[in-house]
This record gives sequence, structure tokens and C-alpha cells, in this order.
Amino acid sequence: MSVRTRRLPQPRRAQRALFATAAATASAVTLATLLLAGQAGAANTSLKSAAEAKGVYFGTALTQSNLSNSTLTSVASSQFDMVTPGNEMKWDTTEPSNGSYNFAPGDQIVTYAQSSGMRVRGHNLVWHSQLPSWVSSLPANQVQAAMESHITTEATHYKGKVYSWDVVNEPFNDDGTLRQDVFYTAMGSGYIADALRTAHAADPNAKLYLNDYNIEGENAKSNAMYSLVQSLKSQGVPIDGVGFESHFILGQVPTTMAANMQRFAALGVNVAVTELDDRIQLPASSANLAQQASDFATVVNDCLTVSGCVGVSQWGVGDADSWIPGAFSGYGAATMYDGNYQPKPAYNAVVAALGGSTSTSSPTPTPSASASPSASPSPSATGAAGPCKVADSVSAWNTGMTENITITNTGSSTINGWSLRFTLPTGQTVTSAWNTTITPATGPVTSTNLSYNGTLAPGAAITIGFQANQTGNASAPGSFTLNGSTCSRG
Ligand code: XIL
Repeated sequence: MSVRTRRLPQPRRAQRALFATAAATASAVTLATLLLAGQAGAANTSLKSAAEAKGVYFGTALTQSNLSNSTLTSVASSQFDMVTPGNEMKWDTTEPSNGSYNFAPGDQIVTYAQSSGMRVRGHNLVWHSQLPSWVSSLPANQVQAAMESHITTEATHYKGKVYSWDVVNEPFNDDGTLRQDVFYTAMGSGYIADALRTAHAADPNAKLYLNDYNIEGENAKSNAMYSLVQSLKSQGVPIDGVGFESHFILGQVPTTMAANMQRFAALGVNVAVTELDDRIQLPASSANLAQQASDFATVVNDCLTVSGCVGVSQWGVGDADSWIPGAFSGYGAATMYDGNYQPKPAYNAVVAALGGSTSTSSPTPTPSASASPSASPSPSATGAAGPCKVADSVSAWNTGMTENITITNTGSSTINGWSLRFTLPTGQTVTSAWNTTITPATGPVTSTNLSYNGTLAPGAAITIGFQANQTGNASAPGSFTLNGSTCSRG
């Protein structure tokens, strides 16, 4: 990733400061709740309190049947502050036959969310899938009226109860052409603007999104979505955001994700990670889980890097609830919680990426104090560890800054435990770090791996970062050494 220096816009900084104050109280309450609940792997910081301190939300999908699982709901309400109904607001549930509506399942999720202090992402109003056959078999000249009635009735029913709507879900093919579904066939590409305008008329305060998969990186499909959003904005069509589903395969989070989301934000829309999961070919090894932790942290850091990114939602609370095993044969283990709702390494990595801490991700002992082979070896003991590359990006504001540092193993052997050394420019003092421990806080510092990201296979990359106070010099360090070897930049 190229070096980018960016000032956070004032409202976002103010919003983050506000959340930070609220979150200080909230996290204490959450900790007490978790300890009272006696939950194994109790965290010092919940996902939602850490996210709120950064000015973003952390959500999950939930289905109606999930609500009767009290283990699940206690994790959901203590960790997440946004809910997306997994299926209950889709057309096949809400209007199974023409003009007859069923909002009971969706209402149950809204009631649960409200009673747990969570907001709701409405999902979704128009989609080619989970669409009742009466719609797909309508004569072309009746499709627009059916679509508009459906949107108006559903968005009116949930008016004031949803934060946002995925108005059109998955409109594109992977090659960037529009999907030839019943809506496109009847109305052409204009159905998307019509759907957005209809939703806006029904609920003017809901944030209106287009949501799709395989648009996370820069590619033909995301280029097409970008052009569509640009065109809708230029015509004054009400569009507030783009949802990046983010159903990833282990180790394949696109390296262009932050830059891609940033270009959408620059069009004047919000962006959100809406359905995050990271599927692993089963059985999952501990190395797989470590890679998954790195993948999740990368996605969260990508969102935090983009000032228009409002939040991240995982698709399902835990591995037991995930759609992955049913949809992708042989794959699973795609969420931050295992089948028993115990947090996996990805959970700790996400809390750390959000600037929080967990009881299970305590810092790896410093190299000199540890005899563990997985701890960072000192340069004198091992010599140069092999080539490495460092890319960093800084976001600065008047007295503060964040810096994300991506370390790539460009050598041919695996790095087991690492220490990254660099000198902070004068006036910079580290106040928190993610995915690493940094000591001391100023001057020449050593950044060491945590338990879950010490292993770096050839070609693998991890992102670490820190927040610092600064007194006018927010530049990046001049050079980095990894286990004693100077890293290339880029
Ligand atoms: C999935 C649900 O999780 C499953 O229960 C259902 O069988 C199929 O749909 N993209 C979306 C979501 O926008 O609505 C999908 O949810 C997953 C892919």
C-alpha cells in the first residue's frame, strides 16, 4: 500500500472523541457483565466498546432461531452493537405472496435489538435471491409496481427502527455487468435509482445502501459499482452508502481494500463491511486460525483507515451459526467464535486492532526476558532474519496520529517471532498499539509480535499499528529493521 497522509475530517474526530468518553464507561460496564456472566475467555474490552471508542460500530447477523439460544444472545448483546437480520427481512419472508406481508420474524429481531441497545441494518429490499416465484414470474409490465409496493410497505413498516437499508443487494455480475434478474429485465438499469428513490420516500432518515460481494478490492466489479455510485450521486439519487460483504477465503483479503473503500468514500458515501467471514478448508489448523486472526485484523484496520467507514459486521455470531458450511462444501470455521461461542484468535486480533485489550492476548514477553522459541529472537542470537518489506500509512490531526505498518516476509523461510525496530520522530509518543506491543513509547522503539501473529510464512504480510500524540512532526520513521535486518520500503 502506498504511503498516504490524511487528516481526519473534523466531524469524525469529534465523533470519535465523543464515543471514547462514552466507551470508557461502557467498557467498564461490559467487563462487569462478562465477569458476572462467568463467560470463559472473558474480555477486558468488548468488540462494541472498542469499536465505539474508534467511532465505528461492530455488528453481527442474527436469525430468528438464534434468539432462542441464550448462550448466543448473551455473546451477541455483550459484544455487538448492530444487528443485521440474516433472512427475516428478505422478500420471500416479508411478502411471500402478492400483497400479503409477514413482518413477524423481522419484528422479533428488531425487538431483541432494541432491548439490547443495538441498532439494525435492514437487509434487504430488492435482491434476485430469496425472491418468491410470484415476483420472478410477473409479466414485465407489472414488475416495477410490485417492486415499489414492496419497498414502500416494508420501509414504512420499519420506519424509524432501522439505521440503514440494503436497498438493492448484489446487483452486479463479477465482470461488472448488471445481473440480468427480473428487475433489470423489466426496467433496465434504472431500477436501482427507482428503488433508492422509493425507499427514501418511505423512510427519509434511513441510510440507503447498495451491497455486494467481490467488490472489496479494486477489480471490474468494484469499478462498475464505483461508476454506478458516481452516476447516481451526479443525478441526485438518494444513496448514502456502499456495503462490502467481505465473504473472504483464508489469506485472500485483497490488498487494495482500504484504497478501494477510500475511493468510494471520496464520492461522498459511507462505506461498511457488511457480512464479514473468512472461510477455512476444514479441519482448521492453528496456523489457519492465526492467519484468520491476521485477516480479520486487516479488514478492521482497513475500515479504520477510511474516514467514511462506519462499521464492520460479521455474518453470524459464531461458527455454529455461519452459512459457510452449507454454502461452500468443505469450508467452515469462518467467524471469530468457535462452535461453543469461545473467542478464537481472530476475536483477540480484532479487539487489538480496535485499540482494546483481551485477557488472552497479553503481550508476548520481551526477547531478553523470554526463553520461548516462539518469542522474538534477538538480532545477536540469530543474525539477519532475511529480507522484509515495510509499508506504512499515517493519518494525522492537530495533536495526534495513527500509523499502520504492513510487514511482508519477502524471504524464503518462515519467520518465527519478530521484533521490528524503528525510531519515532521527535515529539511522537505512542498511546496505544494494535497487533503488537511497542516499548518504550518514544525514541528508538521495539515492536514485538503478539501470540497470534508471530509466524510469518514466506510472502505473508501482517499489519500492525499504533496511535500516538505528536507535536507537529507526524512523519513516519526513516527506517525499520526486522530481527536485525533492514527492511525495504514500499
Ligand atoms: C445467506 C443466509 O445467511 C443464509 O441463511 C441463506 O440461506 C442464504 O443467504 N449475501 C447476502 C446474505 O447478502 O443475505 C446471504 O445470507 C449471504 C450472501
